[in-house]
Amino acid sequence: MNIISEQTSKRKKEHLELSLNSDVSFKTKANGFEQYDFIHDATTEVEIDRITFKTIFFKKKINYPFLISCMTGGSSESENINAQLAIAAEELQIPIGVGSQRQALENENFRKSYQIIRKNAKSVPVLGNLGAAELIKLKSMDPIKNLINLIEADAFVIHLNPLQELIQPEGTPNFKGLLKSIKKLVKEIQVPIIVKEVGSGIGGRSSKKLLDAGVKGIDVAGAGGTSWAGIEMLRNKKATDDYFWDWGLPTSFCLKENVRLKNDYKFILIGSGGINSGVDAAKAFSLGADYIASARIILKELDSNGTEGVKDLITGWFGTIKKIMFLTGSNSLKDLRKKKLIRRELSY
Ligand SMILES: Cc1cc2nc3c(=O)[nH]c(=O)nc-3n(C[C@H](O)[C@H](O)[C@H](O)COP(=O)(O)O)c2cc1C
Repeated sequence: MNIISEQTSKRKKEHLELSLNSDVSFKTKANGFEQYDFIHDATTEVEIDRITFKTIFFKKKINYPFLISCMTGGSSESENINAQLAIAAEELQIPIGVGSQRQALENENFRKSYQIIRKNAKSVPVLGNLGAAELIKLKSMDPIKNLINLIEADAFVIHLNPLQELIQPEGTPNFKGLLKSIKKLVKEIQVPIIVKEVGSGIGGRSSKKLLDAGVKGIDVAGAGGTSWAGIEMLRNKKATDDYFWDWGLPTSFCLKENVRLKNDYKFILIGSGGINSGVDAAKAFSLGADYIASARIILKELDSNGTEGVKDLITGWFGTIKKIMFLTGSNSLKDLRKKKLIRRELSY
């Protein structure tokens, strides 16, 4: 194994360990959903048992508009994790993302850790993943085509992580040429391109540039959940200004900004970043998310209670969402998006 690839696998391992065993949540900033209350509808006539969440994700039928966020791959530990996450995704019939495929660009050692997702999740949408820092280095898009083929990806995700690259000991905080590379990618790749953050959020201004470049999906991955600056600070022995632990746009704010762009652009909006309960999820839908996604809470549930735990967690959340839909007079998620929230400070 060459040195770069060894470093990549080691980093993946440390990310998993810190995500599971350390408190790497935002410290002073929340996802923003706590500022909202649902508007109770005393006259509800919703038939709770008739509510369904079945929908489509890029041409494939799914049971819930919930995505297991891109997390891991490229190390020996990640093969087992991905194998189990994929079983949960297949049984629930929900989309799943693989973690950054950078390692698979570097050599062939851990290809199975990515392929296992498609092997165990044959019928659901599977999403490929690469960081923008890697994308901008590519002279041709052929390597991305290979990454897509490796897992028969239905869509490909580029993650933007300027904060993480800035704090990461071996990071490369240089994204010069980003939008040009994304335009080229959109033009040359057959599957839809989604762009996500990793916890600092994508606000309206950034999204507009990405949508103008042709991307078909925005996953806001806002602040309030896992702090990637926090994870890198724990890895980085050099002192870094603690201020950056909590840097970023809260998830609720990102959703509000992005939903306005729906008047002018056709794209899917994914709400993620600290979605850690059915109530968070319902509020994300209410603020305009078409789909929601979670990462670290799913990993932790898998670690504690295995595949069944992950399935129960997700179905439990949708049980909560049904109750909220009943109480807000919402027959469908479309109804739930129609002004069902009130800002707390204005309400009483
Ligand atoms: C262990 C772990 C590894 C991750 N690796 C990736 C990755 O390779 N690519 C990516 O786009 N996001 C990655 N993420 C970020 C998540 O997809 C997500 O955007 C972020 O953690 C915020 O969501 P959360 O608050 O639900 O954890 C990772 C998250 C975790 C917890």
